[in-house]
Amino acid sequence: MSKTKIKYTCSNCGYESLRWLGKCLECEKWNTFTEEIIETGNRKPAAYKGTLNIKKIDELESSEKNRIVTGINELDRVLGGGFIPGSVILLGGDPGIGKSTLAMQAASSINQKVLYVTGEESNAQIKTRAARLILKSDNFFVLSETDLNIIIAAINSLSPALVIIDSIQTMYRSELDNSPGTITQIRECTSMLMDAAKKNNITILIIGHVTKEGFIAGPKVLEHMVDTVIQFEGESHHSFRILRAQKNRFGSTNEIGIFEMHENGLTEVKNPSEVFLNEREKEISGSAITASIEGTRPILLEVQALVTPSNFGNPQRVATGFDYRRLSILLAVLEKRCGYRLSANNVFLNMAGGVKIDEPAIDLAVCCSIASSLTDKILNSKTVLVGEVGLGGEIRSVGHIEKRIQEAEKLGFQQIIIPLNNTKGLKNSRTTIKIKGVESLTEAINHLL
Ligand code: TYD
Ligand code: MG
Repeated sequence: MSKTKIKYTCSNCGYESLRWLGKCLECEKWNTFTEEIIETGNRKPAAYKGTLNIKKIDELESSEKNRIVTGINELDRVLGGGFIPGSVILLGGDPGIGKSTLAMQAASSINQKVLYVTGEESNAQIKTRAARLILKSDNFFVLSETDLNIIIAAINSLSPALVIIDSIQTMYRSELDNSPGTITQIRECTSMLMDAAKKNNITILIIGHVTKEGFIAGPKVLEHMVDTVIQFEGESHHSFRILRAQKNRFGSTNEIGIFEMHENGLTEVKNPSEVFLNEREKEISGSAITASIEGTRPILLEVQALVTPSNFGNPQRVATGFDYRRLSILLAVLEKRCGYRLSANNVFLNMAGGVKIDEPAIDLAVCCSIASSLTDKILNSKTVLVGEVGLGGEIRSVGHIEKRIQEAEKLGFQQIIIPLNNTKGLKNSRTTIKIKGVESLTEAINHLL
């Protein structure tokens, strides 16, 4: 006999409770608990009597050679070389960032049957987008549906190589009493899709909306279930988009893909450094160039700072694309170790191009751009700055120094300032670029300004 009970689940982290809570004990978010129905009953596990399918590892077949390559290099690289049949991929990102666009472009660039299931847009809207994207449409099938049982039937009858579910938050299983978007629905729908992927040996790409704070619903639970999690990020008012793998059972999570959003869809950015430095104003104070490592690729970026006197009691600090707390720390280091008075100034910091960087190797460029803006002295536009700044004002060594130097050299920079410790054991002695090692922030600023 089974009876129904109710439990409450946090829609952010999946924490379960028997009574409703205003604030989650686990992730400390407010108002995230939703009601879920659970079936209980005294079912006993039955002993398994079927045949067992145990194999030697040598007898197993790798799915590597069956990968479906999209031809969109930036996407293939992040996936680890293409879609693996039988796998489920979660594509997350803020609403409006371009997930549907990316999915449609990927789908139309493979030469096999694709089923695009949409629960968000009407057929007419899909058609408008497809026309804008100028897609190849011979093998592109569209189904406007949210009932998962119907979707599974469609998959079985069409037998596509790739299925796109746009988005998981709108899908539901009619046999469950919960509404679409709740944790139970999302989890059950995903597990049914995983099952379909494995049984039919097809790839399923699930699109999920993510807010700045995390998933709208069905968060970590989903990430654990699927094979690959890729995240699409960027500022929606900037045209650059970065694709990152957060989890990949079939490849590394180090790679990123860079795209640019245009009138008719996303295009690949093959030489990010050139693109990011394109609009740079050369002779201006507060601008510094740094070499950051994104995934395994070096990218040159412009750090912009604007320091202005503050007329009111509380000076403002605004950081775009850079961690706010890290900025506060660097300002304190500049004040204490280098003697700059910043407490009476507003400081605005911006990573040009709308990228987000959380690598400490750009600290030196951040500090120098602030010092440059404060003193109104221009930094040499042919110099790249790399180094982590410690609390004592010391410059600490960073990883992948060779790659950073090479990229700076490739783009015609004449000098690169790096941590002194990094200059030891530099393999590359042929470089035409001048390399200068520095030990402290004061030394770097004195050299530059
Ligand atoms: P979309 O793929 O619908 O985002 P998501 O599925 O992540 O919610 O794309 C949303 C934005 O992209 C929309 O604001 C318009 C813009 N866009 C373009 O600039 N060019 C295009 O060709 C397309 C299709 C969209
Ligand atoms: Mg969409």
